[in-house]
Amino acid sequence: MIYSRIIGTGSYLPEKIVTNADLEKIVDTNDEWIQSRSGIKERRIAADDQFTCDLAEQASLKAIEAAGIKSSDLDLIIVATTTPDQVFPSTACLLQQRLGIAGPPAFDVQAVCAGFLFAIDVADKFIKTGSARCALVVGAETFSRIIDWTDRTTCVLFGDGAGAVVLRAADEPGIYSTHLHSDGKYKDLLCVPVGVSRNFKQVNSGSAFTTMEGGEVFRWAVTAMSDIVDETLDANRMSRDDIDWLIPHQANIRIINAVGKRAKIPPEKVIVTVERHGNTSAASVPLALDEAVRDGRIKPGQNVLIEGFGGGFTWGSALVKM
Ligand SMILES: CC(C)(COP(=O)(O)OP(=O)(O)OC[C@H]1O[C@@H](n2cnc3c(N)ncnc32)[C@H](O)[C@@H]1OP(=O)(O)O)[C@@H](O)C(=O)NCCC(=O)NCCS
Repeated sequence: MIYSRIIGTGSYLPEKIVTNADLEKIVDTNDEWIQSRSGIKERRIAADDQFTCDLAEQASLKAIEAAGIKSSDLDLIIVATTTPDQVFPSTACLLQQRLGIAGPPAFDVQAVCAGFLFAIDVADKFIKTGSARCALVVGAETFSRIIDWTDRTTCVLFGDGAGAVVLRAADEPGIYSTHLHSDGKYKDLLCVPVGVSRNFKQVNSGSAFTTMEGGEVFRWAVTAMSDIVDETLDANRMSRDDIDWLIPHQANIRIINAVGKRAKIPPEKVIVTVERHGNTSAASVPLALDEAVRDGRIKPGQNVLIEGFGGGFTWGSALVKM
């Protein structure tokens, strides 16, 4: 049996910090409201000339360095993003060129804030079936580009960033299991209602923005991300005590706390970055993972349950031995 194992992590945040006080100057909001409703204190926003691939490249270089491999060792590149640089080629192809690699498959997956879990699932299957031996999996977003900065109900919640992992084939887990779900009937609750094939003029004029039914999304996110903890543990015949760390999608501290409570994972086992990153969509989980690996909380051999939830709805998890 072939397994895939995370052998390196990396992340990148744009330099520009936007605090809640900065947002008070552009919309009718305040630090107290934002912190009490979301836990967010600040977020990073990409510079005008910085695009998703730029963020992905920085995160990837760090993951490749941490893995102790060369870019040329990679035989698969998957980028999870909802904010690609171009309609096409994929951000993964742009990243491949930056990394100086030619030949191996490179493609994007789009599952919004659950995208990294979908990408990990695909890469894991490539490795398990012998189609790849060393994969780069990236979650990268410039979500600020699809936010209406005059809409206080959404603009306070999101940020930009990228996280990456290198997966390599191994004789032992590694990734124990992955679990993915989608339910398109909730498509209108969290979306950008225009795209390339539909009202492209709005995309072109830079007014393709995220809309959201916050309360509904909140309820669904809590249910989906706590239920999938049980699904993941059951599939591996493991108990909560076998989990060293939970890394939920970083959308809102109240969602994270409610997931921990409902899933019966104590707060000291839950990695939280949302207060400094905001919701970075597909980048949120690999960013949090890299941070906790680099600051020494996550140690080799520990079991980490990562999970995501996003528009679609889409949701997924992976149980990983580091
Ligand atoms: C958006 C969210 C933070 C709102 O929190 P909430 O507790 O439901 O908010 P409340 O219902 O208590 O408050 C809403 C009120 O605050 C106001 N409000 C909204 N945004 C505000 C802001 N940035 N500053 C001040 N007031 C704001 C609303 O206009 C509304 O006012 P009204 O009652 O006069 O109409 C919460 O629903 C949420 O996080 N949802 C999930 C969002 C998410 O994570 N999406 C991505 C998932 S991948």
